[in-house]
Amino acid sequence: MGADVVTESKDRREPVGGRLTVNRPGRGGHGGPVADERSVIFDVQNLSVFYGEFRAVREVSLPVHRNEITALIGPSGCGKTTVLRCFNRMNDLIDGARIEGTILYHGVDLYERGVDPVEVRRRVGMVFQKPNPFPKSIFDNIAFGPRIAGFKGNMADLVEESLQKAALWDEVKDKLKESGMALSGGQQQRLCIARAIAVQPDVILMDEPCSALDPIATLRIEELMQQLVSDYTIIIVTHNMQQAARVSDRTAFFTVDVRHDGQRTGTLVEVDATDKMFTNPSDPRTEDYVTGRFG
Ligand SMILES: Nc1ncnc2c1ncn2[C@@H]1O[C@H](COP(=O)(O)OP(=O)(O)OP(=O)(O)O)[C@@H](O)[C@H]1O
Ligand SMILES: [Mg+2]
Repeated sequence: MGADVVTESKDRREPVGGRLTVNRPGRGGHGGPVADERSVIFDVQNLSVFYGEFRAVREVSLPVHRNEITALIGPSGCGKTTVLRCFNRMNDLIDGARIEGTILYHGVDLYERGVDPVEVRRRVGMVFQKPNPFPKSIFDNIAFGPRIAGFKGNMADLVEESLQKAALWDEVKDKLKESGMALSGGQQQRLCIARAIAVQPDVILMDEPCSALDPIATLRIEELMQQLVSDYTIIIVTHNMQQAARVSDRTAFFTVDVRHDGQRTGTLVEVDATDKMFTNPSDPRTEDYVTGRFG
């Protein structure tokens, strides 16, 4: 099963059509690097990210595998959010932000001229640290994105299906007209996940999605992530080591290099199967971090 989509640049000076191809074979084994190149959904090569003159992240190379959960961990300021935002070109929205290097998405350069960032953000959805439902009804929170994307099917079915997938349907099915803001924090975060799912993405990015939630709501989101990963690819930033160890298949550990002149740059220390990262990492800096000796 697969679909080819040609995105057309809205800028007529850029007539080059970018091609974003989506294929979704079944989920690979849990953990363990997968040798099959076709399982790589994002291939990050020598990525540096700048905010103006400041290089926030230096030369990151990292594969992200489809139908896996990849966790990005590391101390505050090492560039996890910065790297996460590159996967759906959210950094484009920040004045002065630019990248060097390449991110291939299904083999297509995400930053190539002609790739439409709006289409990229539909395919690569995002869930933020603080649940941010729109000040609208639960139904309209979900229907908003599909309406803008020109969805022509049965909206009520799509809303139900999205809420079902986000494990929220049973709790809200009798109050779809009530405000999304009136839900509990954990429910709001599941609403935001349902909203991300409703536009039929390929990848879901999550930036510390549980940090504002209590342990029970956190567990629900973790269980939900493990259900969703059979249909989607998930990249999660988390400060919670147990969470990374519990939910992710692969973990990337970043740190901050401080130069003699005080310049701080985020770097990738290593990326590997989560089991290995937490029991027998290759780099002593990873071991210090995951065992709590640092950070
Ligand atoms: N919009 C921005 N403009 C300028 N500098 C930024 C911007 N966003 C982040 N930075 C800088 O980039 C570096 C990496 O920040 P980033 O937010 O990616 O770190 P992080 O690993 O997500 O940290 P935390 O764990 O605290 O969320 C930091 O030095 C930060 O000050
Ligand atoms: Mg961050």
